[in-house]
Amino acid sequence: MSNRTFTMIKPDAMKNGHAGAILDKIIKAGFRVVALKQTKLSAEKAGEFYAVHKERPFYGELVEFMSSGVIIAAILEKDNAVADFRTLIGATDPAKADEGTIRKLFATSVGENAVHGSDSDENAKIEGSFFFSGLEQY
Ligand code: TYD
Repeated sequence: MSNRTFTMIKPDAMKNGHAGAILDKIIKAGFRVVALKQTKLSAEKAGEFYAVHKERPFYGELVEFMSSGVIIAAILEKDNAVADFRTLIGATDPAKADEGTIRKLFATSVGENAVHGSDSDENAKIEGSFFFSGLEQY
C-alpha cells in the first residue's frame, strides 16, 4: 500500500553540503516528494517536535542541535514508506548503520545523524502536519 513518511535533513548534513546527495538517494530509492521546504527551527519549535524525548538525557543537546541551522523538511510517499525509509537511513548511531545507508554515508555521530525518519504511520502524519498545511500535501 502506498503511504507516507516524514523526513528532515538535519543541520549537520545541511552545513556539510550533503543535502543534494541525500535527496538524490531518497528519490532514486523510489520515494515521491509530496512536499518539501527549507526552514529553521527555533529552540521552542525543536523542543515541541521532540517533546516525546523530554525526559531523556540528550534532550537539551538535541534541541540545541536541531535549532542550530537550517533544515529541509519533506513528506515522502512510497509503498511501505515508513519502514523502507528507516531502512534507507540506517541505525540512529551511524557507527552501527549498515553500509550504503544515508546515516553511514553522511552522519557524524548519534546526536548529529544527518536525517530524521518517522517511526510509525501515525507519527508520520503528526510530523508532516507540524511543518505543512493540508493544502501543501497533495
Ligand atoms: P530516536 O527516536 O531514538 O532515533 P531515530 O532518530 O533513529 O528515530 O532519537 C531521536 C534523536 O535523538 C536521534 O535521531 C538523535 C538523538 N539522540 C541522541 O542525541 N542521543 C541518543 O543517545 C539517542 C538515542 C538519540
